[in-house]
Amino acid sequence: MAQQEDVFKKIIAHSKEYGFVFPSSEIYDGLSAVYDYGQNGVELKNNIKRYWWEAMTLLHENIVGIDSAIFMHPTIWKASGHVDAFNDPLIDNRDSKKRYRADVLIEDHIAKIDDKINKEVEKARKRFGESFDEEMFCQTNARVKEHKDHREALHQRFSDAMNDNDLKALRQIIIDEEIVDPISGTKNWTEVRQFNLMFRTEMGSTADGAMTVYLRPETAQGIFVNYLNVQKTGRMRIPFGIAQIGKAFRNEIVARQFIFRMREFEQMEMQFFVRPGDEMKWFGYWKEWRLRWHKALGLGDDKYRYHDHEKLAHYANAATDIEFRMPFGFKEVEGIHSRTNFDLSQHEKFSGKKIQYFDPELNQSYTPYVIETSIGVDRMFLSVLCSSYEEQKLEGGDSRVVLHLPAALAPVKCAVMPLVRKDGLPEKAREIVDDLKFDFSTHYDEKDSIGKRYRRQDAVGTPYCITVDHQTLEDNTVTLRHRDSMEQERVAIADLHKLIHDRVSLNSLLRKLK
Ligand code: GAP
Repeated sequence: MAQQEDVFKKIIAHSKEYGFVFPSSEIYDGLSAVYDYGQNGVELKNNIKRYWWEAMTLLHENIVGIDSAIFMHPTIWKASGHVDAFNDPLIDNRDSKKRYRADVLIEDHIAKIDDKINKEVEKARKRFGESFDEEMFCQTNARVKEHKDHREALHQRFSDAMNDNDLKALRQIIIDEEIVDPISGTKNWTEVRQFNLMFRTEMGSTADGAMTVYLRPETAQGIFVNYLNVQKTGRMRIPFGIAQIGKAFRNEIVARQFIFRMREFEQMEMQFFVRPGDEMKWFGYWKEWRLRWHKALGLGDDKYRYHDHEKLAHYANAATDIEFRMPFGFKEVEGIHSRTNFDLSQHEKFSGKKIQYFDPELNQSYTPYVIETSIGVDRMFLSVLCSSYEEQKLEGGDSRVVLHLPAALAPVKCAVMPLVRKDGLPEKAREIVDDLKFDFSTHYDEKDSIGKRYRRQDAVGTPYCITVDHQTLEDNTVTLRHRDSMEQERVAIADLHKLIHDRVSLNSLLRKLK
């Protein structure tokens, strides 16, 4: 685990060094849990968004997109339940004056018990060697059994307290387990309070009774309140979907793990409106289809798993997460939820407007049911980055850092390099750039040795390097170097376009989803 943490630190440093992600407001010492995307990061992020958008809107003729405003009427958040129930349980330490999420303090404490168990197991594995039977050891070793029983009971108590929203019980766990503040080292805790995660601001002049508005904590509500507009103007027939990509804001108290949990982030959400009674069929469809979308990127099928929710929100009748194996464990990247007709019904109630669909086949009106797919752009970015990063030892004692980014998502598709900065080679290389740049993000690089230039491109995940040498001037061929294998092939300049296109286009990725 410690090794994985080291790798994660290196990935964070790498993404800063190579212009993927910068801490926000860095020259003012940063702003916690807010990040900026650099010159390579923005390209990678845009490619991820395009892959999602086109998979939704091009491959499904019954899905259309919108772009709703971030500010919305505040009653929307009353209707959706966010004003009353979008909360985290908070606790303060009176000595350090620091604030924590009570549930996270307990989760971290449980993780420490897991560590103790793992340490015992690893010690025993070393002692017994080949003949080690982990299951048997865990069942019979007194110390491990004690830790496991303790963990299980604690986990049950914790789940009950969270499910019942019982703040007193959460605090009691912290007291009973003697959890200390990591900064002050004391147990001087306040009561646990609920803290709403929405950012508020004022709209209009304060003197004149300004209106409190919220920065949206999810993009989904912008879709629900536009359901009628889109259905009517697009003459959409159920089942149909509305997709949206946009910023969302949450005042996260525990913000950590780099861009995994941010205060300002981006979501890609799609609400699929279906007939009541058909929702489980469509839930199954989207659960399978979304995983296929992820796997088509080729990051490794073993890196994904579903996490079906046992405890459902009061409005949902099924929910699952797609989790990805990050360096810090399997974590949620996407949620697929069957939200019944909760949201549309709430907006009917709060707005007083009828939000119904007349189904010509059934000859009846109803409030549609909804299947939602909701994925964080930044978490997707992080999963792509983490699984692409590799430190490679090469023959001859050399080494390189390479990002094996899926070619269709890579910020730069090819780099053109004259072998030397003379003899007409730069001019020839520029000619190639001037042709390729209309279709691919193409870089020109003539500084440093060719080896150093290759390393620079490997570090940002450029799939192809094209080298122009003296032979090029004679026969119009170049070397095409492949990022992952480092193999080089001699190809005609006239064939470059097709060769690159076949391997880097979004089109070929989308075709895998057929
Ligand atoms: N409309 C449903 C909804 O918002 P969610 O599970 O709260 O559901 C959906 O969020 C996705 O948004 C998550 O799976 C995650 O990828 C992303 N997300 C949520 N909070 C985030 C945060 N603070 N930072 C980065 N991504 C976040």
